[in-house]
Amino acid sequence: MIHAEITGWGRCLPPAVLSNRDIETIMDTSDEWIFSRSGIRERRISHVTGAELGVVAGTRALAAAGVAAADVDMIVYATSSPDELIPNTASIVQNRLGALHAGVLDINAACSGFLYAFNMVSDMIRAGSIRTALVIGSERLSSLMNWSRRESAVLFGDGAGAFVLQASAHASGFFAGKLGCVPGTRELLAIPDFGLDAIAQYRPLDISIDFSGPEIFKHAVKGMGDACEAVLTQGGVQLHELDLIVPHQANLRIVEAVVRRLGVSTDKVVLTLEKYANTSTSSIPIALCEALDDGRVKPGMTILFTAFGAGLTWAASLLRWGQRVTPLGTTDIELPPCEQTGLELTQAAIARRARQRT
Ligand SMILES: CC(C)(COP(=O)(O)OP(=O)(O)OC[C@H]1O[C@@H](n2cnc3c(N)ncnc32)[C@H](O)[C@@H]1OP(=O)(O)O)[C@@H](O)C(=O)NCCC(=O)NCCS
Repeated sequence: MIHAEITGWGRCLPPAVLSNRDIETIMDTSDEWIFSRSGIRERRISHVTGAELGVVAGTRALAAAGVAAADVDMIVYATSSPDELIPNTASIVQNRLGALHAGVLDINAACSGFLYAFNMVSDMIRAGSIRTALVIGSERLSSLMNWSRRESAVLFGDGAGAFVLQASAHASGFFAGKLGCVPGTRELLAIPDFGLDAIAQYRPLDISIDFSGPEIFKHAVKGMGDACEAVLTQGGVQLHELDLIVPHQANLRIVEAVVRRLGVSTDKVVLTLEKYANTSTSSIPIALCEALDDGRVKPGMTILFTAFGAGLTWAASLLRWGQRVTPLGTTDIELPPCEQTGLELTQAAIARRARQRT
């Protein structure tokens, strides 16, 4: 039997930090409100495109796996904030990395997109149709924010994370997955003016997230809870056998509610919300990279991923970690330097948006 193992991992967090205190200077909110309602203290604001973040994360993941770009069969790029639609962003990554033999695909399942990609690519490897894949989640959500909408603007951040998945004869890697979408909930989380429909109707560019926070909250707890229970049953894993849970990082209270519902100790949960906020598709690979750096991932561990997002999509994956918990190699790739602070980048985005509206 062929197994699909994570052999490389990488992340790219843009350097500019936007703290809750910074946000207090541009809208009617407070560090106390944001932190107590969400667990977030700060987030990163990107000075480069989402593709650029993805290229850096992907290059780091390939170095960690010791895999040459030319040996990648498939690049899947999950995002909720695409730089462009045609051609897709995975083809930018292919060109930049020199992954000459790779198929390229973008996936949009909002914040669940990385797990949709991870589960599908793992199954392609297990079926024998490909041997090596690069899965990237990358977001520049700050460029989609409407900074006059305090209920959503404070929750998101920019960043990218990537895994290299490889065919393996060892009994490790992905072994159970579940994907879904709650019918009738599309309007709870949407960006209505971000697509051809708005352009065809000549509506002015006024990108803004429609957002029903408390409703999404309830669906998120149920969706992720159901998904986790489904993969545990499918994988024949008892709760006490779970070693690590890496959830999508949308809100600390959502994560705590899911963990409470499952009946698992919060010590097993990886959290990065405080530093990076909700980075959508990249939150799970970023969190796993941090857990590896912190020595929290051990050989043979059973790990649960779970996510939810606009749609409202939901997903879960179960995997058994392999033997290696350190990278095989490193790379000196870095983002271009950033001269501005997170607040300056945000103020510039607000001014740009005001000009576009007139
Ligand atoms: C958004 C969220 C943090 C709000 O938390 P909450 O406890 O449900 O808070 P509520 O929506 O009930 O709002 C409470 C009050 O705070 C106010 N408020 C909202 N955003 C605020 C902000 N940034 N600062 C200060 N006050 C704010 C609201 O106006 C409301 O005031 P009111 O009671 O006078 O009307 C929470 O619901 C959430 O995280 N939801 C899901 C997140 C999500 O969808 N993420 C993306 C999908 S992956």
